[in-house]
Amino acid sequence: MPKPKIYATHELFEPAREILNANCDIQYWSKSERPPREEVLRSVRDKEGLICLLTEKINDELLRAAPKLRITANVAVGYDNIDVDACTRRGVAVTNTPGVLDETTADFAWTLLMAVARRISEGEALARSGNWKGWNLDQLCGSDVWGKTLGLVGFGRIGRAVARRASGFSMKIIYTDAMRAAEDVERSLNTEFRDMNALLAESDFISLHVPLLPETRGLFDAPKFYRMKPTAFLINTSRGPVVDEAALVAALEAKKIAGAALDVYENEPFIHSGLKRPNVVLTPHQASASIETRSKMAVMAANNIVSFFKGQRPANMLNPDLLKKA
Ligand code: DGY
Repeated sequence: MPKPKIYATHELFEPAREILNANCDIQYWSKSERPPREEVLRSVRDKEGLICLLTEKINDELLRAAPKLRITANVAVGYDNIDVDACTRRGVAVTNTPGVLDETTADFAWTLLMAVARRISEGEALARSGNWKGWNLDQLCGSDVWGKTLGLVGFGRIGRAVARRASGFSMKIIYTDAMRAAEDVERSLNTEFRDMNALLAESDFISLHVPLLPETRGLFDAPKFYRMKPTAFLINTSRGPVVDEAALVAALEAKKIAGAALDVYENEPFIHSGLKRPNVVLTPHQASASIETRSKMAVMAANNIVSFFKGQRPANMLNPDLLKKA
């Protein structure tokens, strides 16, 4: 049996390569920068499978360029880079990597929360600058975290993992979501449901954990910032377009909120110049970036490809109805 021809837009990690090399006829993009679009379009021409990152747009244009394509495996849980309906129309299976990055992403949301509250970037810059003149009573005073109110927008796996960590800081934890969690979940995580406006008014820290969908695009807009406490901070490790960046900059300029910590941006890798201020912590979309987790994500994507070509349903299929039709 000939092995399926696969294109991977990244070299991935060794454990994933071992799985793919043993089961597929695979071509990797191996340069450190992301592949140019033309390169991707050229490389998928004769491929039956594609392993891509969230930086690749899988849309009609790509699908037209890949007439033999049967599956695309995203090495990310978020899949707003993929037009799943277009894939389904053309009979292309789509998979993602849920679950394996929840704890690592929650750790990082906490890293950002702590960093912005306690002014870590400013302190680090001062410590390295050679200009530190020594301890002073009012130097770099930030905001307490312990005992404050954490508002989670989105209470799925990652939101809940963030909540679990908050108990250690004696925080009050509130959340909002399209669906209210079961009572026992609320009780075990020591959380209370709020509607969005109540959450905005009550929270000292608001952390976003929603996927990017038409209904969450621009969710955090000017009216939301105006409802937040002027002492509150916004943390975003979900997707950049969930926040209207121009409105956030205006809110920061008008001191409607105290600060923000962002890992994701509206038009990555572009970062709005108005966000580059001392009370904003900025990181380059790295919340899931631990070696262990990124390696697990790559293995999951590799296994999705291999299961599919063995005639099994991949564990993380986003358009499972496709297999019913086949
Ligand atoms: C995802 O998986 O969607 C993250 O943004 C990258 O790990």
